[in-house]
Amino acid sequence: MALQISGTAKSFIRRSAQVLSILCFVAIAVLASCDMKPRIGFLMDSLEIERWNKDKALFEEKVKELGGVAVIAVADSDPDKQLEQARQMIDEGVDVLVVVPVDLEKAGEIVKLAHQSFVPVISYDRLIKNCNLDYYVSTDNINIGELQANYLTKISPQGNYVLISGPTSDYNAYLLHLGWMNVLQPLIDKGDINVVLDEFSEFWLPDEAYRILSQYLKDKNEVDAIICGNDALASGAIAALKEHKKDGRVLLAGQDADIQAVRNIVAGYQTITIYKPIESLAFAAANAAIKISDGEAPSNMHITVNNGKRLVPAILLQASIVNSQNIKMTVIQEGYIGEQDIFN
Ligand code: GAL
Repeated sequence: MALQISGTAKSFIRRSAQVLSILCFVAIAVLASCDMKPRIGFLMDSLEIERWNKDKALFEEKVKELGGVAVIAVADSDPDKQLEQARQMIDEGVDVLVVVPVDLEKAGEIVKLAHQSFVPVISYDRLIKNCNLDYYVSTDNINIGELQANYLTKISPQGNYVLISGPTSDYNAYLLHLGWMNVLQPLIDKGDINVVLDEFSEFWLPDEAYRILSQYLKDKNEVDAIICGNDALASGAIAALKEHKKDGRVLLAGQDADIQAVRNIVAGYQTITIYKPIESLAFAAANAAIKISDGEAPSNMHITVNNGKRLVPAILLQASIVNSQNIKMTVIQEGYIGEQDIFN
């Protein structure tokens, strides 16, 4: 016996079929649009130093603006944790990895792992050494070292200099030191400058410089100028100088334009800091990552940097000096720090 379906039932079935196909279409469209958004992994070392919070926010903002999704992980200064985070991101299908390496050599493992899954890697701010790194976006760190040393030696072309570098796990620490020596060596050779202390710290943190400088000041007290790898180290140096009643009497250079460092410049405890163009740096990395995820070559990679294994296409931006005279014209005008944050 043939199955009899009433007219109402037929139109109900037809309408249900229509609704179902519309739902399917919407679901497919939603899924497709999700899939099409490039996913950019940003592996960061730590957020302890003020500047990295800015890098993070600006990077996320730019990736989003360019239609991508930024996936962030912070390794808390642990290179093994960073490798695990990389593995997880690669497994979850990121299209590109942007890495602030905790360790210049160990991060090479991240590059190897990423390449096994055809994920390109951009080294951010710090160079990953001795591997097939794809791209590098940073500032000219040798030049930063030269800027610091030039500034202090213009004020004090003779005297006893203390050099406190960042950790040897960060290639930037070497590059800055190279920049310092480019300027200092001729003056050392002339017998005008004496480097009385030259040490690499274990971390980029105030306690390190405090420990290194306190140790020195316990036995000797000849110091006319101190060059530190960053502002965190410079603040530790100020703490040690204070204990020996030398704060404000010794020239002091740092880097990063941390709010406290700029306040210390206003107060006369620190001579200069270095302002890196963080916005341009984060935007350049985000732009490059999105382009690469589209299968295009990134723009503005006009130079190459040797990482020990290959010549890596790179962008190296210029940094500038912040002193007591130009705070308003630099970090404040650029919107990097609010005026009330410094002068309140
Ligand atoms: C360096 C960077 C500095 C500073 C430091 C500590 O690699 O060049 O600007 O932030 O790390 O995080």
